[in-house]
Amino acid sequence: MKYEDWQIITLDKVTSTNDAVNNYCDKAGRFIALRAVEQTAGRGRRGRIWQSLKGNLFLSLAFEYDLQNLGNLVIAASLSLCQTIKNYSPSPEVKIKWPNDILLNNAKVSGMLLEKGIGNYIIIGIGVNIVHSPDSQHILYPATSLTEAGITTTAAEFTENYLQQFSYYVNMLQNNKQAAWQMWTDNAKGIGSKIEVLQENKKKQGIFSGIDENGSLLLDTADGREKILVGDIFYIEKVNDGI
Ligand code: BTN
Repeated sequence: MKYEDWQIITLDKVTSTNDAVNNYCDKAGRFIALRAVEQTAGRGRRGRIWQSLKGNLFLSLAFEYDLQNLGNLVIAASLSLCQTIKNYSPSPEVKIKWPNDILLNNAKVSGMLLEKGIGNYIIIGIGVNIVHSPDSQHILYPATSLTEAGITTTAAEFTENYLQQFSYYVNMLQNNKQAAWQMWTDNAKGIGSKIEVLQENKKKQGIFSGIDENGSLLLDTADGREKILVGDIFYIEKVNDGI
């Protein structure tokens, strides 16, 4: 995958970019990056809505991908998002919150929704709070925006920078998987500390001991090690990430 492979499409208004991008998955071998200026029915993980405030980024990538290697893709997508934000300003704290949120100064600045597309296409939907953060009453985790952290960019510019990083990390995952997984681990918040995992109506506590080859979270509980495929995590102990 190279940056030059991407066809960037910008639409004025869509319901969800994750739906709109399907219209372009008609031929084999395409790399589509569809960005919408306005999104009227954005969705988040686990059935939540994604407040899509004007000026923020609503982007969906679509390309053919072997679902067996989904773990690698999750790593590449979140690591490249983390790196894109770090490249704007190395000073604020930028961390990955499992599975693929990005935290900026301990608040969520970005979320990702992976869905299966048509045929062998996979869709990676990315929302970045560029200029606005959502209303705090309706969200699960404190939110922020790049603007609040003093970073100035636009959704269009961020898209280009992200695609550069994403193409780079997808290749790194193919050529040097070990190094990329290590980088993910180094940039993830809370490994080795106590967390709470929220799944449907259940809550579980344990030590976040890392991820497995599929990207599942490994939670060490009093009853042993559990693999968590889907859920939301909350940090219980103050985490010292060595900063
Ligand atoms: C989450 O954190 O719950 C994931 C949020 C994903 C939001 C993005 S915005 C672009 C794409 N289109 C959608 O409807 N959702 C994703």
